[in-house]
Amino acid sequence: MSNWRENYQERLVTPEQAVGQIKSGERVVIGHACGEPPSLIEALVNRAPELNSVEIVHMVAMGPAKYAQPGMEKSFRHNALFVGSSTRKAFEEKRADFTPCFFSEIPRLFKNNTLAVDVVLIQVTPPDEQGYCSFGISVDYTQAATECAKLVIAQINSRMPRTGGAKIHLDKIDLIVEKDEPLIELKPPEIGEVEKAIGENVAGLVPDGATLQLGIGAIPDAVLLFLKGKKDLGIHSEMFSDGVVALAEAGVITNRKKTSNPGKFIATFLMGTRKLYDFVNNNPNVELHPVDYVNDPYVIGLHESMISINSALQVDLMGQVNAEMIGSKQFSAVGGQVDYVRGSSRSMNGKSIIALPSTAAGGKISRITCELDRGAAVTTSRNDVHYVVTEYGAVDLRGKSLRARAEALIGIAHPNFRSSLMADAKEKGIL
Ligand code: COA
Repeated sequence: MSNWRENYQERLVTPEQAVGQIKSGERVVIGHACGEPPSLIEALVNRAPELNSVEIVHMVAMGPAKYAQPGMEKSFRHNALFVGSSTRKAFEEKRADFTPCFFSEIPRLFKNNTLAVDVVLIQVTPPDEQGYCSFGISVDYTQAATECAKLVIAQINSRMPRTGGAKIHLDKIDLIVEKDEPLIELKPPEIGEVEKAIGENVAGLVPDGATLQLGIGAIPDAVLLFLKGKKDLGIHSEMFSDGVVALAEAGVITNRKKTSNPGKFIATFLMGTRKLYDFVNNNPNVELHPVDYVNDPYVIGLHESMISINSALQVDLMGQVNAEMIGSKQFSAVGGQVDYVRGSSRSMNGKSIIALPSTAAGGKISRITCELDRGAAVTTSRNDVHYVVTEYGAVDLRGKSLRARAEALIGIAHPNFRSSLMADAKEKGIL
């Protein structure tokens, strides 16, 4: 490697100078989730009046996503790889696009030029002695985008934790912006009684020594509350949050029994509070790797007793899981759900768990339904589904006939809906 200090000053610019290189019509990929570079995004959005049709590719946008706000559509076209709270309206109002894709395949979309990357905006740590910066809390597709982009712009932020795993050398960064600012944080969710009951049911399926993948939100955090009595759990998860830190500090998560990467917390991105970011900073047991490794079903399947825990909006009586649409409205996306469902099913003694409250809208709607809502997509297919859990219990659908699945799922539906589900199933000829 070159002496990176030599031309550091020449590449050091202001946020405005850096994004001043972006041209109309180019595709700009933004570093993922809480790892997005706020100063660079702000400077780019400020250029809106002079830009046309800049495509902004991002997955879980945790910042304000001003490029997707009304009035920005001439300057920026947001191409969402996941729809979240800051981008949902833009897609609904046709001011943004949504591209369905498995999280694990995004690096390939960049590498084979299906989504050719012109510019990438990332946020990294200051360089170490050898000139390597850590991607901190977002390696996922961010690292692949830096390999493919014609122009790499990095915000160097000393508040970014230095994590093990993938790094980027300063030689690969074209323009450097030094700016320290707080990282975006995800506050722990509120956990209600229903989530607690679901958490307890899920925890009953987790044996000592298991390796876990946990999604985001109240249900995964509720599960963690009920794992306090377990021994030697491990983490191989697309992401993890503050709840995992608490269990690691309590000595429950040791990663000792992992059959792949033993001793290590493996993730591809992280979202949480400063507590999480401090826990992972310079922690030799935490490694972040690209998502085409961490979410590769083959890699996931190397872990014996791999347990994946994800949520859903609806499950029909055949076991088809809708985790992304409310009716015909895109609410979120597949993310890594299917990567982990498939990976866990390859794992010896593995289980994939879809955990959801039995109702929505204050108890008015059953989430166990005879059919998925008209217009809704299937996220996890009936061929892939394994365990489904609600606050009323857990059922194993694998190897079960359609008739047996329907009976099992009605058994964990809310009691207020069981008889109508039974009647619908009979009318449809399922039972
Ligand atoms: N019909 C109508 N409304 C529904 C509904 C249904 N079947 N299911 C849920 N809703 C409503 C809820 O009432 C809630 O509304 P509110 O905010 O007004 O209370 C809202 O939709 C969100 O539901 P909730 O269950 O709180 O969602 P969540 O935040 O727990 O997220 C998923 C659940 C499924 C959207 C989320 O887990 C996800 O995006 N999964 C796919 C990606 C994935 O699994 N990734 C894996 C690893 S990160």
